[in-house]
Amino acid sequence: MMKPTLKTIFATLAAAACWTLAQPGFAQEAPTPMRGADVAAVDQAPDAKQYLGGRPGGQEMVARTFDGQPPVIPHAMDNFDEITLEENQCLSCHDAANYVKKKAPKIGDSHFRDRDGKLLKAAAAARHNCTQCHVPQVDAPPLVGNDFKGVVASAKGKKK
Ligand code: HEC
Ligand code: HEC
Repeated sequence: MMKPTLKTIFATLAAAACWTLAQPGFAQEAPTPMRGADVAAVDQAPDAKQYLGGRPGGQEMVARTFDGQPPVIPHAMDNFDEITLEENQCLSCHDAANYVKKKAPKIGDSHFRDRDGKLLKAAAAARHNCTQCHVPQVDAPPLVGNDFKGVVASAKGKKK
């Protein structure tokens, strides 16, 4: 029983080795680089794009494309100070105490609740880093093509 089995295995291995060696150009084709350039070539950074919009006050809101989407920022924000632990310039216009005077939309009602849904007096600390959810816009072609269509019916974008 043992002998024929071993013989069969050896025969199969020998056949496989012959077939592999017989392949022309095996393991000789250079891989095609996915980014188009040679491995050693330095990547060229694209030109920096300017964010759209002017100073707050003159822009139309950008329509939302699905329910629960954080609205995108329609105005410029290059000149704002960075959001830090102590400072948040966004709140100086969008917070409950300031929005009327600044003619700015008030931060969402959800921003005044903690993670258990309890109503807070001030905006929740979890919402402090506004730009983690709200992003400025750039007029640039998408990096990767896609055919996403927003849920237009739920778009809440309102004109000012
Ligand atoms: C000087 C006041 C001011 C400051 C500072 C400011 N905003 Fe605004 N924001 C506005 C006004 C006014 C609008 C209404 C659109 C317009 O007129 O430009 C607006 C619109 C928005 C909207 C659109 C809301 C919607 O329903 O579509 C978002 C989001 C937003 N701002 C986020 C921010 C964030 C985040 C910051 C901080 C990086 C910020 N804003 C700083 C005044 C301000
Ligand atoms: C964790 C994500 C997140 C953070 C952080 C956050 N937001 Fe929002 N924001 C949202 C979402 C989602 C909505 C839309 C639904 C809602 O109101 O909850 C929204 C809505 C808004 C609106 C429109 C409110 C309306 O009545 O339509 C404004 C203005 C806004 N946010 C400003 C801010 C500002 C300013 C900050 C920073 C102080 C901030 N948000 C932080 C997610 C976020």
